[in-house]
Amino acid sequence: MLVILVYYDTTTYFSSELKKIKWPNNKLNLSNLKFSFDTHRHGVRQVRTGWADGPAYITQCPIEAGKTYTYSFSVVDQRGTLWWHAHFSWQRASVYGAFIIHPRTPFPFSAPALQPHHIPLIFGEWWNGDIEVVESEMMLYGGGPKPSDAYTINGLPGPLYPCSTTDTFILPVEPGKTYLLRIINAALNDELFFAIANHTLTVVEIDGIYTKPFTTTAIMITPGQTTNVLLTTNQIPNSNPNFVMAARPYLTSIFPFNNSTTIGFLKYQSNNITKIKNKFELNNNPPIILPQNLPTLQDTPFATQFLNSLKSLASRDYPCSVPETIDKRVVTTISLNLQDCPSNQTCKGFLNKRFYASMNNQSFVRPSISLLESHYHNLTTTQFSSDFPENPPSVFNYTGVDPVSENMSTNFGTKLLIMPFGTRLEIVLQDTNFLNPENHPMHVHGHNFFVVGRGFGNFDVDKDPLGYNLVDPPERNTVAVPVGGWAAIRLVADNPGVWFVHCHLEEHVSWGLAMGFIVKNGNEPWECLVPPPSDLPQC
Ligand code: C2O
Repeated sequence: MLVILVYYDTTTYFSSELKKIKWPNNKLNLSNLKFSFDTHRHGVRQVRTGWADGPAYITQCPIEAGKTYTYSFSVVDQRGTLWWHAHFSWQRASVYGAFIIHPRTPFPFSAPALQPHHIPLIFGEWWNGDIEVVESEMMLYGGGPKPSDAYTINGLPGPLYPCSTTDTFILPVEPGKTYLLRIINAALNDELFFAIANHTLTVVEIDGIYTKPFTTTAIMITPGQTTNVLLTTNQIPNSNPNFVMAARPYLTSIFPFNNSTTIGFLKYQSNNITKIKNKFELNNNPPIILPQNLPTLQDTPFATQFLNSLKSLASRDYPCSVPETIDKRVVTTISLNLQDCPSNQTCKGFLNKRFYASMNNQSFVRPSISLLESHYHNLTTTQFSSDFPENPPSVFNYTGVDPVSENMSTNFGTKLLIMPFGTRLEIVLQDTNFLNPENHPMHVHGHNFFVVGRGFGNFDVDKDPLGYNLVDPPERNTVAVPVGGWAAIRLVADNPGVWFVHCHLEEHVSWGLAMGFIVKNGNEPWECLVPPPSDLPQC
């Protein structure tokens, strides 16, 4: 199996000093792969360069085995912890890494200078076996996926899994210092809680955007999200210099999930940290006790309180540019579905049917062309249409229905929204009770958005907007829509191109929980998509 874990550091380039970044650079060469692939820089806005965004069949055709494609783009006005991953099939199970943009100006909080006190912590999810088989079996039988075999911290599962004691992440630290942990959740299907025994964490950045610092005993992080925290090594280690760090899932689903825990260790050490023998010795260690501050699997109250504590910095230097008024509001359900089993097949979903998922009852079907290319060349095609429904096709008690008595089937298609350059857009994401309510991490490509409101139950268009935070809402690229609830996000559609919007749980994308939107060119040359690169892969 292929495992690629690369830290990719780059530097912020402000719009006035644009500089092209070629990616991949010589640190990463995927061109000898035996299968088609692509990569996506998650959270990098790709202003006018959607060609370099990566998702297969949305902004490019997959790169065929043995061929190459150079992603060429500028990082404009962005800094912080982002990441990159494969965006074809479920390849991102093992093809991912950090994408860190160092700021040109000092941090707006007291953070350590750079290395060695900046530590990427990337959570992953591991299957013993071929990940493409996991996906294809799921789609063949219409049931849930085979649960993963482990979670990992920087690629290492830790000693709570069979035969993996030597594969444990150890972070050597000196006492009395402050570290910046750059935490990334790259897991495929699971939101995670994370905590370190006897230590608190001060959140200072999410999805590459500074936040008002706040201190917490643990964090909740969904696939797709990043969270920078400051960690102060303020403990006096007695007999045991090791403090357990642990990540385990936040489970809101009734589906079989991997409910195991990955752990690593903070290892207090006053010597020069480069001299430490970075090895975990089981024999001399007391039994492993999980951090008391690690939330339990279904701790929705913790997740809610944590997410409600996130606020943009909204300072003079880092203003919060949330649109106060909007041009368009789209309300969309995000839902699981059940489809009848075709007569000649075996189906392993609930009631022997097939699972799907949808937005406004449309299950997104990936076309066999690049949507961006056909949009750019104005090609006539029946492979997509620009009529994504702007409201749920039928109004019902979304979070209260008895699932079995409702018709839970969906429609299939490739429907996009289309809007003029500069549209101030609000999208209300409404969870439903079909099958079971779930916390869905919804990700938008090409744009950051502001999470102006969240709540449980059904969104009320008359009442809920009155309670929006239009002062310092968190800005991010992936929002956790509360289980059995809704989230309202606002963005300015100022990046021309075709942009994918999807749940960052890979099983839900396979089932169709996605849509896309087209932002048309503006009037000025700098408001237009650049022409496609000459090596753009063809389908
Ligand atoms: Cu992290 Cu569509 O991606």
